[in-house]
Amino acid sequence: MLRPGALQGRTIVVTGGGTGLGRSMSEAFLRLGANVVITSRKMEVLEKTATELEASTGGKVLAVACDIRKYLEVEQLVAAAVARFGTVDSLVNNAAGNFISPTERLSSKAFETIIDIVLMGSVNCTLAFGKHWIDKKERDKTVLNIVTTYAWTGSGYVLPSACAKAGVLALTRSLAVEWAKYGMRHNAIAPGPFPTKGAWTRLMPGELMERFDLSKRVPLKRLGEHHELTDLASYLISPFSGYINGEVVTIDGGEWLQGAGQFSGLEAVEPGMWDAIEQMVRGVRGS
Ligand code: HXC
Ligand code: NAP
Repeated sequence: MLRPGALQGRTIVVTGGGTGLGRSMSEAFLRLGANVVITSRKMEVLEKTATELEASTGGKVLAVACDIRKYLEVEQLVAAAVARFGTVDSLVNNAAGNFISPTERLSSKAFETIIDIVLMGSVNCTLAFGKHWIDKKERDKTVLNIVTTYAWTGSGYVLPSACAKAGVLALTRSLAVEWAKYGMRHNAIAPGPFPTKGAWTRLMPGELMERFDLSKRVPLKRLGEHHELTDLASYLISPFSGYINGEVVTIDGGEWLQGAGQFSGLEAVEPGMWDAIEQMVRGVRGS
């Protein structure tokens, strides 16, 4: 979508960049000329991804192992990224943890684990990079948070994730206002279903995938394609979106609105019935 070289010379940190959507975003940023720092807990996954992405794009990738739940490790991530590339221009808070479970089966520790990764991990990275930029008086920085559509609707069976993502949305909107004075923009993307191994194995394991075909919930009747999300992410971290601040952009084929619209279920009405229905409705006079 953006022209070649649109991110030339910019350095972007992608948490959870070794797999799934984080890997796809990293690849897209590299293709547009950026340097990318990918981070997660598993160094062997990161190193493999870094080697493959450098080979396929010709760009520069730094892999840094970091558990974003631990602030000290996040500070070391900032230092490693700055040591390698001199400066960081954008942070993409993409790393997450999630699994389906009836809430009554969750331990307090299980809840805490997801809140720690999703909410505290995003807070830790935002704080560490934000403070670094403020200290250095560096401006023109962007933070992009990957949330979900149930950040505002809530959702059963993924309660810790829903609570954590709602917090990340509040983080996005709060700092969009408070830290704009430092030359930072904070935005979010709320993806609908985009197939990844990490999400699919934890949210739709085994036969659930067939029983609850996610594409059927989407008005466009299909799942998202990674390039559709990476185009949006590239735009939102780039200067081309310079006046967008505090926004959450939904990219879900209309999925959440289909559930929200009271009469959207009328999709199930046979097309041939609409003439009779119209006559009935038009026949109502003065009652
Ligand atoms: C109930 C569970 C559980 C399950 C773990 N726990 N899995 N409880 N049902 N299926 C409990 C454990 O028993 C333990 O509590 C606590 O959670 C911590 O578990 P650990 O395995 O020790 O945690 P950890 O090793 O840190 O692993 C974190 C993880 C794991 C979240 C459980 O799945 C992970 O590493 N995920 C990272 C990647 C990921 O989740 N990607 C999917 C993102 S998809 P006790 O009390 O027993 O000690 C996404 C999509 C959203 O977000 C929207 C899609 C449309
Ligand atoms: P994924 O491949 O499982 O990505 C999650 C990443 O987070 C992994 O690389 C994981 O790596 C990393 N991570 C987990 N805990 C971490 C920690 N403590 N410290 C550092 N990194 C950690 O799943 P995905 O589908 O691509 O998800 C990416 C993002 O999109 C998430 O924010 C998710 O909520 C969001 N999302 C996805 C969908 C979808 O349909 N796929 C829909 C809505 C929202 P390690 O395990 O190696 O640490």
